Amino acid sequence: MNILTIATTPFSDQKPGTSGLRKSVPDFQKPHYLENFVQSIFDTITSGAGGAIGNCTGQTLVVGGDGRYYNRPASQIILKMAAAAGFAQVKIGKGGILSTPAASCVIRKYQAIGGIILSASHNPGGPDGDFGIKYNTGNGGPAPEKVTEAIYARTKNIDKYQMLEAADIDLDRLGKTMLGPMLVEVIDSVTDYQELMESLFDFDRIQTMLKGNFRLAMDSMHAVTGPYATAIFEQRLGAAKGSVMNGVPLEDFGKGHPDPNLVYAHDLVKVLFGSNAPDFGAASDGDGDRNMILGRNFFVTPSDSLAILAANAKLVPAYKDGLAGIARSMPTSQAADRVAAKLGIDCYETPTGWKFFGNLMDAGKVTLCGEESFGTGSNHIREKDGLWAVLFWLNILAVRGESVEQIVKEHWRTYGRNYYSRHDYEGVAVDRANDLVAKVQGAMPTLPGKKFGSYEVAYADDFSYTDSIDGSVSTKQGMRIGFVDGSRIVMRLSGTGTQGATLRAYFESFTDDVNQQNIEVQQALAGPMSIAEELAQIKSHTGMDKPTVIT
Ligand code: G1P
Ligand code: ZN
Repeated sequence: MNILTIATTPFSDQKPGTSGLRKSVPDFQKPHYLENFVQSIFDTITSGAGGAIGNCTGQTLVVGGDGRYYNRPASQIILKMAAAAGFAQVKIGKGGILSTPAASCVIRKYQAIGGIILSASHNPGGPDGDFGIKYNTGNGGPAPEKVTEAIYARTKNIDKYQMLEAADIDLDRLGKTMLGPMLVEVIDSVTDYQELMESLFDFDRIQTMLKGNFRLAMDSMHAVTGPYATAIFEQRLGAAKGSVMNGVPLEDFGKGHPDPNLVYAHDLVKVLFGSNAPDFGAASDGDGDRNMILGRNFFVTPSDSLAILAANAKLVPAYKDGLAGIARSMPTSQAADRVAAKLGIDCYETPTGWKFFGNLMDAGKVTLCGEESFGTGSNHIREKDGLWAVLFWLNILAVRGESVEQIVKEHWRTYGRNYYSRHDYEGVAVDRANDLVAKVQGAMPTLPGKKFGSYEVAYADDFSYTDSIDGSVSTKQGMRIGFVDGSRIVMRLSGTGTQGATLRAYFESFTDDVNQQNIEVQQALAGPMSIAEELAQIKSHTGMDKPTVIT
């Protein structure tokens, strides 16, 4: 056994974003680039910096990714580096594949010290696409900011990394192999996750529905959930063969953009909005943590989906005793707040990114969490979970026996409707995007009390969050402008993009008048949208006269 110590020099661009380090594949293929970051994770674990308790020696690490291009070579490098770092054991998904929620499940189940997840989520893959790497801690969730900051600090002064000199492991053969002194166990990617899902939902009832007339279409978008969805929906729950579309994971996602929204999940949208549409449609993203829910000819916004799951949680075995609380990211609509108020439980508002939910879940303060960006989940793991959300909906549908549209419309009648839309402007020149932010920030102090037609500004600020569990403060988490009638505009720059800047503008308004609940969404939000244009001059700053994606 020979451990190589390799001299290296720092890269200046290894700061993790909203969800780990994301760069193009060619960036990750630069000599030492991946290795520097992995060694920085291991060094951070060892030093305990940022509260990353511990020591690699003798520990178990989980490794898995969404199967995109470079997943396999990166897995081999990480295994050899883990062996050199002293880990006793690595559990890795077959073929190097674990969906992000499955990785979170496996970390928790086997009490690993943490896990390395190889994914750029919904970003396109392939030799010119994106790749990503993120570290999850022992609770199964994304490392908190203190830890990612410590990893970043380490990347800035790293001068060497270590790697076992060894042949590659056969990642396609299940079972245990020694890699030098370290045990590598190649595990089935689906088994542990499926077992967890069976413990949460009423599989018998869902099965009865799926074996009857109810038809389901699940679009895995040639990404990681293909094998999970086929095993769970078709093989276990009896959905008709072919219910899972695009179910074979491909390294380039079939050249698609594996983001489950109305634009990119076009195959599914065509089916659900076409003639003879099935009863229910769902899609998930590259790494399986996002979900989109559709009914026949009907789109459920992720914000509404969170609120509806919360309102119906008692119909699901795992949540039959009720919820401790709900959390949503700041830009997510306030529909969930209304459900929480009615249930008499707390609703927390956190910055964008799943990592902010971890402490609340660990402390038992919240059961369900969600983001407007097609992310929903619960305390069963510490990541958002696409297929979990689909099963949750199926469980509700099986119990209520109504259509998706009926359930959503009844929800609006009971709680009121939060109209909601997000406009993305992708690939904006970075300095122009920064100018826009500076302009709005500059105007903010003058806004409260100001009137724009019938809209009066109630507050305008840059969102700042204090974690109620560990007291950590995160500032500059998005500019929000709230109006007296409850409408909101939020603007922020994406922290996950890899090309230029992406401006996200979020719009929300509320009505409890049942006669006003069926207006076309863009029309219902036209007021806040034109105020945003007036304040931020989005068109001239972005050089675009319309968003690249509207959801
Ligand atoms: C985006 C979403 C955010 C989500 C993240 C990771 O981040 O907006 O809600 O947690 O992807 O999936 P953003 O690009 O906006 O920083
Ligand atoms: Zn994802």
